[in-house]
Amino acid sequence: MSPYKGKSVLVTGASAGLGEEFALQLAKLGATHLVLTARRADRLEDLGGRLMSDYPDLRVETISTDLSDASVVTGIIEELNSRQFFPDILINNAGFGDLGTFETSDPATVETMLNLNVVALTRLTRWALPRMLENKKGWICNVGSTAGLIPLPTFAVYAATKAYVNSFSEAIRIELHGSGVHVTALCPGPVETEFGQVASRENSKRKFAPPAFLCVPKADVVRQTLQAMARDQGRIIPGILVRIPMLLAESTPRWFLRFFFNRMSGDFRKERAKAS
Ligand SMILES: NC(=O)c1ccc[n+]([C@@H]2O[C@H](COP(=O)([O-])OP(=O)(O)OC[C@H]3O[C@@H](n4cnc5c(N)ncnc54)[C@H](OP(=O)(O)O)[C@@H]3O)[C@@H](O)[C@H]2O)c1
Repeated sequence: MSPYKGKSVLVTGASAGLGEEFALQLAKLGATHLVLTARRADRLEDLGGRLMSDYPDLRVETISTDLSDASVVTGIIEELNSRQFFPDILINNAGFGDLGTFETSDPATVETMLNLNVVALTRLTRWALPRMLENKKGWICNVGSTAGLIPLPTFAVYAATKAYVNSFSEAIRIELHGSGVHVTALCPGPVETEFGQVASRENSKRKFAPPAFLCVPKADVVRQTLQAMARDQGRIIPGILVRIPMLLAESTPRWFLRFFFNRMSGDFRKERAKAS
C-alpha cells in the first residue's frame, strides 16, 4: 500500500517545477488533503482544480503568498492553525537562485533569497514539528541542492542557502531519530523547470544552461524522492550521472577545489575591469 495514502501534505512552491510535480505525484499516490502555496494564485488554482477533478476524494486548498516576507509566514502559520491543518508531510520546496558574482548582486534579491530559502523553510519546519512529534509520525522533505554540497562561485549565496538546508536537515534528522518523524534532504542537480530562467539575471551574459545529459526530468526527481522518503533515507541525489560526481566533489579536499575554482578568477578580474 502507498505510504502516502490518506496523508495531509503542505507543499511550498507548488505553482511550478518540482513543487507542482510533488502535488501531482502525491495526489496519485493517495494523499487526501493538499495545501499548496506559491505567489501565483492562477497557477495554484488551475492545479488545484485539475487535481480535484482527477481525484474526487482529494481536498486541495491553495494559499497564494510571498514566503520571503516574515510577517506573511507568521500569517500563514496562524491561518493554518485556525483551519486546524497540521500536515503529516511537509515539502519545503519553494526557493530560487541568483546566478552571477556576489559583488554585482542586488542586495534586495540576496535578502529575499535568504528569507525564502532559509528563514521560511526553518520556520515552517519548526511549526510543523510539534504536532508530528505528538502523532509520533511525520515526514519532512527539505529541498536543498547539489549546489549546497560544495562552495560555488557565481552561485555564492544560493549555494550557501542550500548548504544550510542540507546541514539543517541532517542535524534535525539525527535529533528526531526514533521519534517517528523522518527528515529527507532532496539535493537535485540540474532539473528543467523555471529555476534557470529565474536564476539568470537580466542584462547578464551568464545564463543557467547545464548540459542536457546532466538534467534529470522533474518527474524522476520527485518519484525517486518520494521513494527515498518512504524508506527513511536521509538524503537523495537523483540521477546517477549527478550523484557520482557530486559524491566525489563532496569528498575532494578543499585545497583542490580552491585550485580548480581559482582557474575562474581571471574571468572575474576581467569582468571587474570591464565594469570599472
Ligand atoms: N531546477 C533545478 O535545477 C534545481 C536544482 C537544485 C535545487 N533546486 C531547488 O528546487 C526547488 C524548486 O525549484 P524548481 O526547480 O521547481 O524552480 P521553479 O520552477 O522556479 O519553482 C519554484 C517555486 O517556488 C515558488 N516561489 C518562488 N519565490 C517564492 C516566494 N517569494 N514565495 C513563495 N513561493 C515562491 C515559485 O512560485 P511563484 O513564482 O508562483 O511564487 C515556484 O512555485 C527550489 O528550492 C530550488 O532551489 C532546483
